[in-house]
Amino acid sequence: MRPILIAPSVLSAHFGHLDREVREAERAGADWIHVDVMDGHFVPNLTIGPAVTSAVREATTLPLDVHLMIEHPERLIPDFVDAGADRITVHQETCAHLHRVVGQIREAGLKAGVAVNPGTRVDTLREVLPYIDLILVMTVNPGFGGQAFISACEGKIEQAEKMIVDAGREGAIELQVDGGIDVRTAPRVVRAGATVLVAGSAVFGEGRGGPGATISALRSAVTNGGGR
Ligand code: DX5
Ligand code: ZN
Repeated sequence: MRPILIAPSVLSAHFGHLDREVREAERAGADWIHVDVMDGHFVPNLTIGPAVTSAVREATTLPLDVHLMIEHPERLIPDFVDAGADRITVHQETCAHLHRVVGQIREAGLKAGVAVNPGTRVDTLREVLPYIDLILVMTVNPGFGGQAFISACEGKIEQAEKMIVDAGREGAIELQVDGGIDVRTAPRVVRAGATVLVAGSAVFGEGRGGPGATISALRSAVTNGGGR
């Protein structure tokens, strides 16, 4: 079985101590750091831009996984490349020319991902499978941390995995899940085929035990309950 990667989302971190929070997640065994970029248009929230992404870059050597929940992502991709992103994921719903946008990310030397909202079919990504490195199946409607996991999205993870295998891209395309991931939901999405788990409030939220406790709890939950 492939190791499952854990990508804490700094959206739920204490922004006044962002460097400390990121370093703590790294010490706790995080594999990637997930950066949620929101524009107040595509999603009803405004969050992190290139400047704060640079600050996260300075705090860690882990891969920076930048999730762009913004309209016209092609206009800002160069800024996030300069800010030190290693991977950029755009939303299918924001790209009229998806093939061109994922090409733009890869030409900059980064790994390219495409996300689908709960209401978007995963098979809309079939034609771009040769050109991408990651599919992100959203299990909440993007915009906020701490929302409830939408169980109806589990079938989409299975569909995405089958599509990746059928295209001969198994091992080349990561299958990431984002939204409502905790020790209870993580084993379910791993059984469905997820290879990368994003977790925000479970890792950084108040009263959740902190990154150290949560990341090891997530790891043992998927090792003990997520095997297929
Ligand atoms: C949701 C973001 C997520 C969010 C996850 O719009 O894309 O990455 O931070 O937060 P939790 O894990 O709290 O659902
Ligand atoms: Zn995200």
